[in-house]
Amino acid sequence: MSETEIIPNAAFTAPNGPLIATGDLKIETGAETLSQPRASLCRCGASAKKPFCAGTHRTSGWADAGEAVPASTIAELTETGPVTFTPLPNGPLLAKGPLTVQNAAKITIATTTQTAFCRCGASANKPYCDGAHAAAGFIG
Ligand code: FES
Repeated sequence: MSETEIIPNAAFTAPNGPLIATGDLKIETGAETLSQPRASLCRCGASAKKPFCAGTHRTSGWADAGEAVPASTIAELTETGPVTFTPLPNGPLLAKGPLTVQNAAKITIATTTQTAFCRCGASANKPYCDGAHAAAGFIG
């Protein structure tokens, strides 16, 4: 890879599992900001290693096939640079920066420079937050 090559940022929903992000990632854990090319980020709400997936979704009974449909309009991303994931206290996973969002079939459903992903597992609008974390009593 050359120094000038642009690394596109992407995230897809694993079936019944985490949000898998790749690219120029900054992950805010609360204690530090990690820079890494790949991350598995909990969507089910049960991980003991939030914001990362700990594999707990396999035994928690949580299910989401990750079959979100593409937005009616998908803009071409012109921004470059990192995407920063920030878990908001007891709330969603905020993503700031250029990002292509894909469903479990790796079909692009949206492009964004800022969005909020569900990380409590209760949203009816997965992979995005719909505010269900409050009623679900999500702590994390
Ligand atoms: S998605 Fe894997 S532990 Fe939550």
